[in-house]
Amino acid sequence: MTDAERDPREFWDEFYGGDDSVWSGRVNVRLAEIAAGLAPGRALDLGCGDGADAIWLAEAGWQVVAVDISEQALVRARAAARRRDVAARVRFERHDLSTSFPAGRFDLVSAQFLHSPVALERESVLRRAADAVAVGGRLLIVDHGTAPSWAGAHAHEHRFAGIEEVLASLGIDDGPWQRLRLDTADRDVTGPDGQAGVTTDNIILLRRTGEGRTEEGRTGEDGQEAS
Ligand SMILES: C[S@@+](CC[C@H](N)C(=O)[O-])C[C@H]1O[C@@H](n2cnc3c(N)ncnc32)[C@H](O)[C@@H]1O
Repeated sequence: MTDAERDPREFWDEFYGGDDSVWSGRVNVRLAEIAAGLAPGRALDLGCGDGADAIWLAEAGWQVVAVDISEQALVRARAAARRRDVAARVRFERHDLSTSFPAGRFDLVSAQFLHSPVALERESVLRRAADAVAVGGRLLIVDHGTAPSWAGAHAHEHRFAGIEEVLASLGIDDGPWQRLRLDTADRDVTGPDGQAGVTTDNIILLRRTGEGRTEEGRTGEDGQEAS
């Protein structure tokens, strides 16, 4: 069986199931630079992994819902939140976002590198992410734009979706959104063997300026999702 055919929950539980750290434990730089300029409110972190972004947001005064498919990731994240004394400000929820999505509207919805080598209905997840943004709130999507420079030739076979493609897939063309940032930024990254390298982030930052939902999450006048 190839990775792509594996059960997503099993795959990610195995990924987070060992004793070693899998990510840096530090907040993603794009989220930090953008959220630092915002008044704290309610935030939703999609694919939160071991919780570094959610914890950073909580420390900055946000009330956070943080979601991942992997219970193993959430065990790590909850423990880290307790160690940092912000457990009361973060609710970690397990969802397979391809099939279930947290309730509510948020002032900031963040999807940082919500990529997966196994099944993930990313386009519909990101449309629901847009629907979950409150009026006046922001949607931040940060994707890998390139493989790290140290990754080698086979990494270049992978196709990264571009900013315009991801934006188009959100289905918000005629909707009440302000496009605050649609750009790329380079970032230094260290490879598994300590190699220095550079990678490019694709950054989409949108602000919802009024009501109006995507096709997928169209609401009735009472604000409830239409069937
Ligand atoms: C590339 S990692 C990024 C983790 C974190 N956002 C970060 O930037 O370090 C992708 C994350 O998405 C989660 N994920 C993948 N598929 C998912 C799904 N269907 N539902 C919820 N989370 C999912 C994975 O468990 C993993 O934590």
